[in-house]
Amino acid sequence: MRKTLRQPKNLMRLTIHILQKQDLDYRWHPCTQMKSLESHPPFIVKSARGSYIEGISGHRVIDGISSWWCKSLGHNHPRLKSALLKQAHQFEHVISASTTHQTISNLSELLVNFVPGMGKVFYASEGASAVEIALKMSLHSRLNQGDKTKNKFLSLANGYHGETCGALSVSHAGNFRKVYRSLLFECLPIEGIPYVNMQNDNLWQDCSGQWRAIQDFLQIHHHTITAIILEPIVQGAGNMRIYSQDFLRRLRVWTKKHDIHLIADEIMTGMGRTGKMFGCEHATITPDFMCLGKGLTSGWLPFSAVLTTTEIYNCFYDKTDSDEIFYHSHTHSGNALGAALALETLKIMKDDFDWDGFTERTTYLLNSFQDIADETKVLSNVRGIGMIAAADVHQDVYSLERMNEMIRIVFQNGALLRPLGRTVYWLPPLTIEKKTIDELKDATGKALLYAFKK
Ligand SMILES: Cc1ncc(COP(=O)(O)O)c(C=O)c1O
Repeated sequence: MRKTLRQPKNLMRLTIHILQKQDLDYRWHPCTQMKSLESHPPFIVKSARGSYIEGISGHRVIDGISSWWCKSLGHNHPRLKSALLKQAHQFEHVISASTTHQTISNLSELLVNFVPGMGKVFYASEGASAVEIALKMSLHSRLNQGDKTKNKFLSLANGYHGETCGALSVSHAGNFRKVYRSLLFECLPIEGIPYVNMQNDNLWQDCSGQWRAIQDFLQIHHHTITAIILEPIVQGAGNMRIYSQDFLRRLRVWTKKHDIHLIADEIMTGMGRTGKMFGCEHATITPDFMCLGKGLTSGWLPFSAVLTTTEIYNCFYDKTDSDEIFYHSHTHSGNALGAALALETLKIMKDDFDWDGFTERTTYLLNSFQDIADETKVLSNVRGIGMIAAADVHQDVYSLERMNEMIRIVFQNGALLRPLGRTVYWLPPLTIEKKTIDELKDATGKALLYAFKK
């Protein structure tokens, strides 16, 4: 009897060991020092549902960062699965240029009408490829108008827009770009951003004090700038920092006045993440370009989109010179499976999403994070907006080793988190339930105490 009970456990251990070894023998993980996986091997996933990921050993963890910020409606959403299967039964992919089909035209109509001020949509695949497209389109539209002087970009200090070379060129956050500097084009950062922790901060409504210096900087450069790219309201990879809606609003007024495009990179902030459908809505502005990805398919497939205005589109329309055509193609641009998932995600968000319940749970999330800060006393700058909560571990107790220990303990306690430097954050599926937030709070609080209160 004992033997039969023990055997599956040993078998399981053996299976886990073989899988982990196979993975480490052949695969290189993103954003990871591979040596560290030898002592802390990867988690082997069996299934994922709602806000949870389950391993083959039966250990279940809350996906506290929505699998790099994309699983907005949680894992394995039944309507998204049916939409995917339905499309797969028809066809999975056809060349995007010069073909169309019901799914993609329905999606395009819905998307363009959904995002205020937009007239056309161009599809890409990863978020970074959408960013590349927006940058190129902006510059190219100037050339098509005979303007060769507006050929530079500005972006926000501490901003992040992806890992390809164009996207990295306009990013300033963290260590992502330092090593690759020689590959990148120049893009000056706009400094002095008026950050806030909450929307009740005075700066959220009025940043006139900070704006003067920013405007002086902008005035120096405005003749050569084609576009400013930014993450509306929250800088994700730049440590989940929230900035004043008044700053975004003023910047938009200024860009319009000087004929400079505004590229809203809503790849993380879009699709409800900040409590509104798009981050731009906090400042009641419409950009010239909006990039969507991640949550656009609720993280099911790499499928992204660049929305733009009819004015930009017309800069390319009915041109005869081949240099004036937007020659940009990704093989899987407008992939049919991705389109089906995006269409269903939009329908859910538009017609069936419980925005009231969501708003209540966002408050619950932030209060829970604040409770942890109060109880552990190792966090400061608690901040949050929508389904995002974050805080920084006190400088005097922080070390990378301790943070890594925190990550391991929180995982054992049932939550997957990936802090950014000293910043611990939650960015769970928008659909996370209150009882799961309670579990997340318990797991995070205990891990913080264990790692930082020694
Ligand atoms: C604001 C923003 N833009 C662009 C990207 C790049 O998206 P992807 O990783 O899908 O290329 C990210 C990814 O985290 C992001 O947060």
